[in-house]
Amino acid sequence: MSDIVSQLHKAASAARKNSYSPYSNFKVGAALLGADGKIYAAANVENAAYPQSQCAEASAIGVMVAAGCTEIKEVLVLAEAPGDEPVSCCGGCRQRLNEFAGPEVVIHMANEQRVLGTITMKEMLPMSFGPKQLAK
Ligand code: THU
Repeated sequence: MSDIVSQLHKAASAARKNSYSPYSNFKVGAALLGADGKIYAAANVENAAYPQSQCAEASAIGVMVAAGCTEIKEVLVLAEAPGDEPVSCCGGCRQRLNEFAGPEVVIHMANEQRVLGTITMKEMLPMSFGPKQLAK
C-alpha cells in the first residue's frame, strides 16, 4: 500500500469501528483525501426508520465539506463482505462522490486486511450527471 492509501485505510478502519449499524450489522468506513491534503473519514449511521440511514461515504462528505473542503482527490471504502468480495459504493454514493471527485479520481475498496480493488470515478459512474451539466 502506498503511504496515502495506508493513511486512508487507517482512517477508514478507525471510523468504521464507530459505525452505528445496529439494524444491518454491516459496518462501513470511508476515508476521503481532500484537495487540501487532509483526510476526512466517517462511518455509516443507521436509523430505526431504516430509509433515514446514511452511508459512510455520505457521512465522510459531510465532514469534509464542514471543514471547508469541496474537492476529493482519492477515496477508500472499507467493509467486510463474504469471500473477500470488494464492497463498492451504492448508487446514491456514486452520485454524491461525483459531485466532488473528478473522473480520474480512484476509489479503493478494502477490507480490514487489504485493498481488494481499485476503480476510477468514471468507471464507477459512467455517463455521469454532475455540476458541469448545470454550468451553461
Ligand atoms: N453502506 C455504506 O455505508 N456504503 C455503501 O456504499 C454501501 C452501503 C451502508 C448502508 C447501511 O448502513 C449498510 O451499509 C447496509 O446496507
